[in-house]
Amino acid sequence: MQAGIDQIGFYTPNKYLDIVDLAYARNQDPNKFLIGIGQSKMSVADQTQDAVSMGINATLSYLDKIDRAKVGLLIIGTESGVDQSKSASLFIKSALKLAPDVRTFEIKEACFGMTAGIMVARDYVRLHPHHSAIVIGSDIARYSVNTGGEVTQGAGSVSMLIKAEPSILALSNGHSAYSADINDFWRPNDSAVALVNGKYSKEVYLDFFKRTFTDYQNKTDLETSDFSALLYHLPFVKMGFKANQLAIEGQTEATAKRLETNFTASAQYSREVGNIYTASLYLGLLSLLENGALTPGALIGLFSYGSGAMGEFYAGEVVADYEKVLDRRADEKMITRRQKLTVTEYEEIFNEALKLPQDNLELKSDEETGYWYFAGTKDHVRQYKQK
Ligand code: CAA
Repeated sequence: MQAGIDQIGFYTPNKYLDIVDLAYARNQDPNKFLIGIGQSKMSVADQTQDAVSMGINATLSYLDKIDRAKVGLLIIGTESGVDQSKSASLFIKSALKLAPDVRTFEIKEACFGMTAGIMVARDYVRLHPHHSAIVIGSDIARYSVNTGGEVTQGAGSVSMLIKAEPSILALSNGHSAYSADINDFWRPNDSAVALVNGKYSKEVYLDFFKRTFTDYQNKTDLETSDFSALLYHLPFVKMGFKANQLAIEGQTEATAKRLETNFTASAQYSREVGNIYTASLYLGLLSLLENGALTPGALIGLFSYGSGAMGEFYAGEVVADYEKVLDRRADEKMITRRQKLTVTEYEEIFNEALKLPQDNLELKSDEETGYWYFAGTKDHVRQYKQK
């Protein structure tokens, strides 16, 4: 029996900032952001979108296609948690009307959280082949205004159904993990924005990639040339590009070209959306599946990285006719429907979203009908509503 990814849903908020506008506002050469960082736009979440509402919206895109009664596990990986105690997944479970006997919780290890959830779900499905699991990554990447990290922000969520005999990606056995207690990026409890040691974080990311990719090859006897594509956590596109350059070093022209072409396809959505922390790697997977050329059985390698730091490499094989399960047009529309913000509007929204709204003040959303949003707190209890 194979366990793997059967459905993928994606949501990003309805506003964006153009990276060129940001570059001019910060007195930077636009090519530093466009080429040096590799981004062109970033999604901006206002006060009414958070990890919970985005996670609901991502899952809603496939919920009608699955057997809800079979979902036995619901996990959210996030570093944009909305409560220090209650799991974000409980709000989501309620909105999705999942059964009361579902096991549900939130995982935190920076951007690694969704991968941790997928690994738990993979093993759960292997033990319980008649049940499925929903795993969600949902985040808003926020750094302070006018810092080096500002250009690497973004917001969004990817949700997946993990089940037996999956329709999209069959997950291989095994993995290679590596962890170390370091301080490259973190967010203290009293801060709404991340603190980062930027240049050091890039070095650690590449070091963890080399370690886990090499270890995975040693454990499995697979070689770089066996992979049709390598996917990376994408805090910004240039970061994954650098890891891919390491991977193709010394490879034949054909292998290098294939991995470069598929990397470009995998980075297409992230270039527009920005960093969505836990879900960034999986937005890359969706982008590859919808924009790359893959044959059934193609081997895909995935490198997950969470600051602090935790790295993991694992793999999966593409299932025949996977494209019939995806809705490329809807995912592209999710990105193209966004409204452009001026830098001043972005700064206003950014500053407002850092604060919790006044209690008992109902927030209004400008989202399209059908999407969920955070409607403020009522007697300090968070309220979620559908537009
Ligand atoms: N044209 C083209 N390229 C240019 C250029 C120009 N005019 N000007 C500069 N560049 C290039 C630079 O040469 C550099 O390229 P290399 O990386 O190949 O050297 C690139 O643009 C970036 O320039 P800087 O390093 O000078 O940029 P910076 O110091 O302003 O900040 C950053 C870059 C450190 C990534 C910063 O954006 C940051 O701190 N981001 C957040 C941290 C992060 O994402 N780290 C990644 C690893 S941690 C992780 O993955 C977890 C996570 O999700 C956060």
